Amino acid sequence: MLTKKLQDALNKQINREFFSEYLYLSMSAYLESIEMEGFANYFNIQAQEEHFHAMKMFNFVHDKGGRVILKPLGEPKANFKSVLEVIEEALEHERYITKSINELMDVAIKENDHSVKSFLEWYVDEQVEEEATMSKLIAKLKLINGEGLGLLTLDNELGQRKYTPEE
Ligand code: FEO
Repeated sequence: MLTKKLQDALNKQINREFFSEYLYLSMSAYLESIEMEGFANYFNIQAQEEHFHAMKMFNFVHDKGGRVILKPLGEPKANFKSVLEVIEEALEHERYITKSINELMDVAIKENDHSVKSFLEWYVDEQVEEEATMSKLIAKLKLINGEGLGLLTLDNELGQRKYTPEE
């Protein structure tokens, strides 16, 4: 069983993971609109990963005998000034999600639920990787000034990325 406090906190995080999927799809749509197909592919895959994060938690709540309640998702930002702005906002969003996961972990610790703490470790580790990936992309974009042949090469590289379902 889950305490009411923990169930509410998990439901809030499920909503945030689904919103992340929605936001990354919106970023992907913007990138398509400016012919950055590789970056669009990259964010399409990010969106699929966020869907996985949401569903992993969705299933966990059920495994724990809890109740999932889905809430509205809100409107994701649709327009950006540049590819760099997209990635910077994605990094900012990931930092917000990291904070949110940490707060959720704090609730699990306070409620003394060891199975939830163990489950959340995966998300804690995942956030380190998510933030690092975005930071590296920002560094690369700055290196090439976010334009020209460098941008096309990077776009081409990101176009090769494929979604590999996680465990
Ligand atoms: Fe599910 Fe990118 O955090």
